[in-house]
Amino acid sequence: MTASMTSRIEHDRLVPPDRGDRHTESAAPDECAPPGDYTALMGMFPTGVAVITSVDGAGRPHGITCSSLTSVTLSPPTLLVCIRSSSPTLDALMTAGGFAVNLLHTGASATATLFGTPVADRFARVGWRPSATGLPWLHADALALAECRLGRAFPVGDHVVVLGEVLTATRYDGAPLLYGLRQFLPWPADPGRPAAPANGELHD
Ligand SMILES: Cc1cc2nc3c(=O)[nH]c(=O)nc-3n(C[C@H](O)[C@H](O)[C@H](O)COP(=O)(O)O)c2cc1C
Repeated sequence: MTASMTSRIEHDRLVPPDRGDRHTESAAPDECAPPGDYTALMGMFPTGVAVITSVDGAGRPHGITCSSLTSVTLSPPTLLVCIRSSSPTLDALMTAGGFAVNLLHTGASATATLFGTPVADRFARVGWRPSATGLPWLHADALALAECRLGRAFPVGDHVVVLGEVLTATRYDGAPLLYGLRQFLPWPADPGRPAAPANGELHD
């Protein structure tokens, strides 16, 4: 195999063996782990917590607590989130063509719970204002904000995988809120020590 062959990803290699072009189909429910086993598994993979926000066609803010945030690539800076197909926030961000990622700080567990619950007036209960590009910025709860342009979006089961190209990435003060084993936890940094790299860079 030559270097040029190994330096590019061939589309055929992205298809699981023996499944041909059926790779977008889901396994039958009886082939899968029970939902409780799966959620217990993922509970043992702690994450940070984000509130994904956008605005609908009438300019109303929408937002959803989200732990499925993942960095995809550095060039261009791209992240992904997985959002429930019937979520009003998904509708809003598809219409707006963009969304904001509000990374929550340790003191924001009440906001994480609020935006993780089907409450109609979420934005009446938090401090927020439009970001530079007009997306809802939860300035009282976010220790970092990313403004994203909508990239590709594709359904997988009952969720939609949404790619976002990061146009701005801004860090404020605070340490990250964590979520694991179905509970919110503070970042376990020693008091007095910086909770994240002091140079403010966001890493892959
Ligand atoms: C810590 C935490 C993480 C969550 N992560 C996601 C997620 O990644 N994607 C998702 O669709 N829902 C996620 N949820 C659930 C939604 O936040 C919740 O269903 C919310 O009520 C959806 O709002 P909506 O009904 O306006 O769409 C999470 C909830 C919590 C508490």
